Amino acid sequence: MHDIILSTEGLVAGYGQTTILNGTTLSVRKAALTTVIGPNGAGKSTFFKTLFGMLPVRAGKIIFNGENIAGQKPLGLLGKGMAYVPQGRNIFPSLTVEHNLEFGGISLNNLPETRQRMEAVYKQFPILKTRAKAQAGTLSGGEQKMLEIGRAMLLEPKLLLIDEPSIGLSPIMAQQAFDLLLKLRDNGVTILLIEQNAKKALAISDYGIVLQQGRLALDGTADSVLNHPEIGHLFLGGAVQVSNQ
Ligand SMILES: Nc1ncnc2c1ncn2[C@@H]1O[C@H](COP(=O)(O)OP(=O)(O)O)[C@@H](O)[C@H]1O
Ligand SMILES: [Mg+2]
Repeated sequence: MHDIILSTEGLVAGYGQTTILNGTTLSVRKAALTTVIGPNGAGKSTFFKTLFGMLPVRAGKIIFNGENIAGQKPLGLLGKGMAYVPQGRNIFPSLTVEHNLEFGGISLNNLPETRQRMEAVYKQFPILKTRAKAQAGTLSGGEQKMLEIGRAMLLEPKLLLIDEPSIGLSPIMAQQAFDLLLKLRDNGVTILLIEQNAKKALAISDYGIVLQQGRLALDGTADSVLNHPEIGHLFLGGAVQVSNQ
């Protein structure tokens, strides 16, 4: 149904002497929402950092839009349409919402163009417009995550990598973040999501990927992953508990 926008072939990466991704081979479909699940320490976040050029690729390929981008740096990848929203808080809390967004456009090196795109972001994220002059640190956790996503969208990415956006958010804010990801997907953005609440995330996703010990353990439609008996037993029970915090 969907073309492939990104694939990895035998990807090897890690930290220092430690190998975490150990021959990761998988593919991601264009204009779809795909959730990556797997136990803690499986290498999910490491996978994103490697895709986005923040860790060296020791072996293997990362094919993005038909090009092997292994070894390329984050700034270049941003220009090629890949964006990354890491886990946790990644805003400048003492700057205004507006200035945080301007920073998102810094690689455009064109303030009028950045301002124009900020207006487009405000249309999609009205709460950011309302709070434009507020210090970003005064926003709620959910609003700060919206700001991070909005800032990433400023560069009009084709592929958004987003790591655990719902951590620390209330169930209502988490739902709003998921709704927003679906809206972006409907606008043609490919979303690759890591999510602790695997059951919830798979329920709204098109596809699912299971990583285990830095390798692909299972992939397929989100339904097929959700209904896989072993996966349910291994991961989903724990995820449901987390969602009740
Ligand atoms: N900066 C780092 N330096 C060394 N080891 C790390 C670092 N970040 C993560 N690791 C290790 O890499 C493994 C995979 O971590 P990570 O990719 O964060 O897993 P996940 O996101 O699936 O929970 C874990 O064993 C973790 O301890
Ligand atoms: Mg992680």
